[in-house]
Amino acid sequence: MGGRKLPLVVLVCLVLAMLPSGAGTVAVMSVDLGSEWMKVAIVKPGVPMEIVLNKESRRKTPIAVCLKENERLLGDSALGVSVKTPKTVYRHLQSLLGKKHNNLQVALYQKRFPEHQLLEHPVRGTVYFKNSEETQFTPEELLGMMLNYSRGLAQDFAEQPVKDAVITVPAFFNQAERRAVLQAAQMAGLKVLQLINDNTAVALNYGVFRRKDIDNTVKNIMFYDMGSGSTTATIVTYQTVKTKEAGTQPQLQIRGVGSVTTTHSSIPSALSY
Ligand SMILES: *[C@@H]1O[C@H](CO)[C@@H](O)[C@H](O)[C@H]1NC(C)=O
Repeated sequence: MGGRKLPLVVLVCLVLAMLPSGAGTVAVMSVDLGSEWMKVAIVKPGVPMEIVLNKESRRKTPIAVCLKENERLLGDSALGVSVKTPKTVYRHLQSLLGKKHNNLQVALYQKRFPEHQLLEHPVRGTVYFKNSEETQFTPEELLGMMLNYSRGLAQDFAEQPVKDAVITVPAFFNQAERRAVLQAAQMAGLKVLQLINDNTAVALNYGVFRRKDIDNTVKNIMFYDMGSGSTTATIVTYQTVKTKEAGTQPQLQIRGVGSVTTTHSSIPSALSY
């Protein structure tokens, strides 16, 4: 594997360089998309990144959408309902994004959440939830509602409209899964400046705060990210390199990535095969 080389300052520059010029007060939201939770932050030029607290003053918001006849609840309030009426609450959407109906993850989801009926889209072959006789929702639409909700939180926090987003997705996401996230963001009225692999974001963050430890000696570091839906190991090399244009600069290189995505392994009863 050739590995990808990225200068450490890339994340910050990436966000700031893409801001429309002269827009000194434009805020960009970042969304860290997990399988159970999402974390939202606000980035503004010249201001340190700030974590957006949700209505319950928490840093992370459960990915949960409750759809009742005339009511829609999101986040913590939806999760609360799931204990009483699980049928009305949709969670763990990440494992369904961009998946074909015959995907193993879909079967596992169906076993874990038998209260939901997952059907196959006749043309695309992807899945949708049958909510009632008249209503159906795709996982992308439900994630779109979550992203729109996060956008509302970000706007309240920043006290200004937010249209642009940087979204981190799992490193193992394929093209169809990435497209599904982009679709969801579009439904939320968000312009996605960049989808970033979550392991790259972690490696960048590590390097940015340890700039002094990086010199011309190669340093290899392995990162483990154990979430509720997957475990990813990433080997990253840090070293300074000399370039003609920028002089000596720190650089990181993703050497290798390995993931296990037994999404529902925390519930052994769901894994009868
Ligand atoms: C998005 O969220 C806002 C509140 O922040 C709400 O007024 C609006 O109806 C939502 N849009 C969609 C498409 O759900």
